[in-house]
Amino acid sequence: MIVAIDGPAGAGKTTTARRLAARLGYPYLDTGALYRALALALLRQDPTLNRARASEVLTTIQLEVVWDGTQVRLWLNGEEVTEAIRAPEVSRAASLISAWPEVRARLLEEQRRIGRTWAQRYGGVVLDGRDIGTVVFPEAEVKVFLVADPHERARRRQQELAARGQRLPLEVVLREVLERDARDQERALAPLRKAEDAVELDTTALTIEEQVQRVYELVRERQRRL
Ligand code: DC
Repeated sequence: MIVAIDGPAGAGKTTTARRLAARLGYPYLDTGALYRALALALLRQDPTLNRARASEVLTTIQLEVVWDGTQVRLWLNGEEVTEAIRAPEVSRAASLISAWPEVRARLLEEQRRIGRTWAQRYGGVVLDGRDIGTVVFPEAEVKVFLVADPHERARRRQQELAARGQRLPLEVVLREVLERDARDQERALAPLRKAEDAVELDTTALTIEEQVQRVYELVRERQRRL
């Protein structure tokens, strides 16, 4: 059972996917974390993210992804970067480099390999991202596309950053969210969009429990039909 959860930043993907996975007893792969890890590696090599140099560096990056029973932990060339990849400059860089075909190609097979391995090992897997239902696992048994009002998404993102000790004005966070939406939707390769057979869920007025419950019901319904 592969559960694909896509949608823009702040729509509730990560929280929903994590709780849903815990409820189902499945591991959860936050695919954005893989883009963030590559972005961090590239930023460290060259803060200007020169694309020609980045292409060379990409071939040398060693990325290790481990499910520890609760969350995904990432190692970059032997150093754990699970926390470091959450910095705002890494968000921006991840959004930028995720438009590059060489980056997407590098991660496509990796996501498929991890998803299949975990689904076999644990009976299922939950993945969240931008193109899981459209590109990475178009054959996923359950596809959900989460959306929410941009102001509400910015508010959630602001809280998330505050919890990590970064206080930013709402307008700044909103601008960043809108810029990221535009970049993720407008890129030529694997842009953010709803798969035709995905169920759209607007989370603006839903609590986290309600979001999780809706998706959980979709999974149970699908399991009954398998
Ligand atoms: O979900 P996130 O904010 O951690 O993702 C960081 C960036 O990675 C996001 O701006 C777009 C990119 N991304 C992507 O292009 N495809 C995915 N499946 C997941 C993330």
